Amino acid sequence: MTAPTVFVLSGPNLGRLGTREPEVYGSDTLADVHDAVRREAEHLGLVADCRQTNHEGELIDWLHEAVDAGADVVLNPGAFTHYSYAVRDACAIVTTSGRSLVEVHLSNPAAREEFRHTSVVAPVATGYVAGFGLQSYLLALRALV
Ligand code: DQA
Repeated sequence: MTAPTVFVLSGPNLGRLGTREPEVYGSDTLADVHDAVRREAEHLGLVADCRQTNHEGELIDWLHEAVDAGADVVLNPGAFTHYSYAVRDACAIVTTSGRSLVEVHLSNPAAREEFRHTSVVAPVATGYVAGFGLQSYLLALRALV
């Protein structure tokens, strides 16, 4: 039996982890996050397909691809979280198709600037993990199993 694939998707500016506001996001790079995610996924009997994009349309295409592949999704939408109805609608396609989608954040947006307090994705996500740095991604994977 082949291990189920989980799409682990990160949005804009997350490719800059490690040097981007380390006091907020920590010193782990995205490569560190992806390595830890792949190891944890393997431990849980999953295969993680890890990707990052700065482009809204590409992220939406990947969410559609997850639906077509029948894959669950761990998603850090970055700033799209706060205003992208297009990303939200694509997330709704995932969850209404019967797949799970966990929204993750390295920081805790609720403890930051006012504009970060709104997530347009959260109402259509299966669940939400925020504030634990790289561990947020690993907790999301555990939640899926
Ligand atoms: C973030 C939080 C967002 O508000 C921000 O725009 C990001 C990263 C996080 O992981 O903490 O790019 O999603």
